[in-house]
Amino acid sequence: MDGNGRWAKKRGAMRIFGHHHGIKAVRETVEACGELQIPYLTLYTFSTENWNRPKIEVEGIMQLLIGTIAKEVPDLHKNNVRLKAIGDLDSLPENARNALEKGFELTKNNTGLTLSLALSYSGKWDIIQAVRKLADKVKKSEISPEDINEAIFARYLATEETPDVDLMIRTGGDHRISNYLLWQSAYSELLFLDDVLWPEFRKAHFFKAIALYQQRERRFGKTGDQIKNETK
Ligand code: FPP
Repeated sequence: MDGNGRWAKKRGAMRIFGHHHGIKAVRETVEACGELQIPYLTLYTFSTENWNRPKIEVEGIMQLLIGTIAKEVPDLHKNNVRLKAIGDLDSLPENARNALEKGFELTKNNTGLTLSLALSYSGKWDIIQAVRKLADKVKKSEISPEDINEAIFARYLATEETPDVDLMIRTGGDHRISNYLLWQSAYSELLFLDDVLWPEFRKAHFFKAIALYQQRERRFGKTGDQIKNETK
């Protein structure tokens, strides 16, 4: 969800103004997923590296997170959305953790969209925490190193049972993954929107992104002919 700061700066406002306006884009994206019956949406809300931003901005984002969760959770629940979060949640302020916990608890049995907020998250952090958990199992002889495979490793990642990423959309014009879901995006389709800052992102952009995704041929290392024969 990139470009909030620049969007605000263009209007002569503080960066936090852009983050506040990003909430409308979040709502539109969640609604669009509902309309298309997309089962998983993961939003890169706050990265491990974002802790290095000025204190006033970090505090502003945390306050916004708490306020938005409290305000939106009842509506998410009504719409059968299951709220989750991935990341080093212990590093979040206690009131943010509490607000999230309440949201998880209320929505845990919902069967519609799984909305995951990546908070204090980075792909490298995720891989390291999975390795640590697995190494501990090996140490306790609960698993042997030869038995570790991709499927088992993936279960130790913060995303747990969430399938790998099909489509990764980045607004704001930068063409990089910025330490997001590194393992989970090994075969993702990447879409970089050069002319859209996150506060401007609307359902129409999302639908267009999905239409572009549908035109891509996902070969997963195979040839185009093999893929065509498989789908016959
Ligand atoms: C990146 O834009 C955006 C963030 C670091 C924060 C995004 C957070 C929100 C929109 C609040 C979300 C809350 C919920 C509940 C999902 P940037 O600041 O890097 O923009 P820039 O590239 O223009 O500087």
